[in-house]
Amino acid sequence: MTEFENTVAHGLERIAKATSDDDLERLRIEYLGRNSSISQTLSGLAAEPKEKRAEIGKAGNEAKQKIGAALEARAGELAATRMGKLAELEAIDVTFPAPPLDRGHIHVLNQVRSEVETILERLGYQVEEGPEIETDWYCFEALNLPKGHASRDLQETFFLAEDESIVLRTHTSSVQIRAMERLRTPPIFVIAPGRVYRRDNLDATHLPYFMQVEGLAVDEGLTVGDLKGTLLYLVQSLFGPERRVRMRPTYFPYTEPSFEFDTLCGRCGGAGCRSCGNQGWLETGGCGMVHPNVLRNGGLDPDQYTGFAWGFGIERMTLLKYDVEDLRLFYENDLRFNEQF
Ligand code: DAH
Repeated sequence: MTEFENTVAHGLERIAKATSDDDLERLRIEYLGRNSSISQTLSGLAAEPKEKRAEIGKAGNEAKQKIGAALEARAGELAATRMGKLAELEAIDVTFPAPPLDRGHIHVLNQVRSEVETILERLGYQVEEGPEIETDWYCFEALNLPKGHASRDLQETFFLAEDESIVLRTHTSSVQIRAMERLRTPPIFVIAPGRVYRRDNLDATHLPYFMQVEGLAVDEGLTVGDLKGTLLYLVQSLFGPERRVRMRPTYFPYTEPSFEFDTLCGRCGGAGCRSCGNQGWLETGGCGMVHPNVLRNGGLDPDQYTGFAWGFGIERMTLLKYDVEDLRLFYENDLRFNEQF
């Protein structure tokens, strides 16, 4: 009798101290399992004297019930505590500052494009737009590039019509004539940023489409000096005051004289390094004084007006600014790349 009572008293004490469901399960096995002292005593009843069997059996079952009830009660308490803690943990503090949202931002090429626009707008230029699907006239013919002219081969063209009269524009120079037609009377100071297309194979330095900015200035008395001053202002505003501009004579059908312009290498300051292929200068774009035929095709009198024009690739400008090594990165949209700018 007292043996059961002892066992129960002991058991209840330990159950009250249990802190987890695992504890409780171990106690259940210890007190109620087949090898527990209570179960052992009950299964050994047959060996007890007849008159005592009922009494022991009853006491044993009561002991089991008490322990069982205590286990259940403690399990309930533990669950309640857990829920209480959870409620506390998950309580929302509405005054707590929210973590910053991952916002998108302007792609680096468009950043440079707007920077170029802002810089030139300060000089009085206005932005003109032209179509990416263009006629042969605006893209070539009006720019002093007649059919069969050798320099048409310089640009690998995507033709959109069997007779080659409609093209994907190969350069933003196509906007020059459109701007002269629309604005009609000089001074005309326009820039035309936009996408252009060429049948080039994709590699680290070639893209089948890319972006250019075209510049066109037409007025009375404009000179090569004005052209160079404009390019210098642009390059120094974009890259810093230590960068200089150099012009080398070349040939474009729509300008006379024509130049390629280079920017002083920012890495080595002109001494020559890996970035500039030991040249000290980085090729930047093309430019020149607008050819009289082009002015004429734009409806302007080349005896009264002169003009200068230039064109360069935005990817190339961005590469000069940030030292990016592979043009393809601009279009792959890998966020690890994009997020750096
Ligand atoms: N259209 C030329 C190109 O795509 C760039 C260019 C050269 C534009 C000379 C001009 C220019 O306006 O005068 O490579």
